[in-house]
This record gives sequence, structure tokens and C-alpha cells, in this order.
Amino acid sequence: MNQWIDIHCHILPAVDNGSVNMKQTKNMLKIAHEEGIHSIIATPHYGVGCRNPDQEELKRKLELVREEAKQIDESFCIELGNELYFSDDIIEHLRKKKALTLAGTRYILVEFASDEAYNTIKTGLHRLLIYGYLPVLAHVENYECLYQNYEGIYDMIRLGVYMQMNISSITGGYANRRAGHCRKLIEYELVHILGTDAHSDYVRAPRIMEGIEVIRKKYGADLIQKLLTENTNKLLQNQYI
Ligand SMILES: [Fe+2]
Repeated sequence: MNQWIDIHCHILPAVDNGSVNMKQTKNMLKIAHEEGIHSIIATPHYGVGCRNPDQEELKRKLELVREEAKQIDESFCIELGNELYFSDDIIEHLRKKKALTLAGTRYILVEFASDEAYNTIKTGLHRLLIYGYLPVLAHVENYECLYQNYEGIYDMIRLGVYMQMNISSITGGYANRRAGHCRKLIEYELVHILGTDAHSDYVRAPRIMEGIEVIRKKYGADLIQKLLTENTNKLLQNQYI
């Protein structure tokens, strides 16, 4: 039995553009469990100036999802966080505890617009570090300014930023530009954590086995263990990766 931990998943029902209802959430839980995922951090979107779900509602729904998860497996663990859309005000929202860190740790999952300028991303993440947070850049493969910009990514890692890649992005085959980019990111050791970024039980389902096979064949099982269990477990324990 594999023990993968998914730190990026839109599994709470009807709170963002992820799961639309509890039925879909249940299906997502079943799929995730079949794929060997035993812990999930639910990460609904949060953006300053956006209509964010009420935190009490998130906690209430978290408990419902936890109950469903227990029906599948007694030890199935569901935690809560946010996927934060970066803006200068996000720090204030974090400090006032309106926006959530990942599972109550110092780690935060942060995203930017895919066409955001490199300096905006780097400076923004640096500011979060200065305030004592440990930022994980969501789906590092998605940003135009980071395409083939390995030095740019490395510079952010040197500052203390962690990189999360969506595991499905590597499954496109050799002709696929994004999959090729993902292989390079893995090869150059620029990824700390793999996640599903699942949004539903069909198009963007919490499936990881196909991606795992691609990485295992090319880079070995140890790397999978590191990116889906060891590092994610350190994150959950609030330890440095
Ligand atoms: Fe996401």
C-alpha cells in the first residue's frame, strides 16, 4: 500500500471551482484512495478582493469530508489550507488568519497569474519569506516566465521557496511541450513536491499513478518517495524540507 500525500487538491464541495457537490467529493476521495493517496490537504482558492468562502463554512465542510474519508479508510487524513492568489495584501490576510496556511503549518501554497512577470513572482515570494512563511509555488510548470528559466527557478529556491509541480503535467508524452518542460524540472532537481491540483472526479481527477510511472521509469522510485511522501510529510509536520 502506497502512502502518498497530496498537498494541493480542490476537494471541498461547492466552495470554489473544484468539486461541485458532496457526491463528486466522495468520488474524488475514492479515486485518490485507489491511487494510493492517504492524506490530502484541501486547498480552496483564496484571493484578496475575490468572493472567498467563509472560513466557518470551510471548517464545517472539512468535517463532512473527513467523515466520508473515514468511511473509505479509518486512517484517511484530510487537512485544510488555501491556494493563495498572490497580491500585496495577502500577507495581512494571513496575519489576520482570514487566509489559511497549509494544515496550520508555516507552509503556504501560492499561485500567480500564468503570465505574471518574473520579478513580481520572485519579489512576492521573498516578501512572504521575510514574514516567516514558507511559500510553496503552486504548479511551477505553468508560468511563462519560468519556461526553460531554470536559473530563475533556482534563484527562488535559494531564497527558500519550494516548488510544487502538478503530477499530471508530466504525462503528455515526448511531443508535448509542457511534459518536456516538466521532465527538465525534475531532472534539474527543481521540484520539491508533486500534487494533483484535482478539481473534479473526471477531467482533473486526483490521479497520480500514470505520472508516477513516468517518473519512476526515468528517475527511479526513490524520487517518487521523496516528492510524494518524505517532503510532503515534512510539510505536514511543519519541518523544513
Ligand atoms: Fe489549484
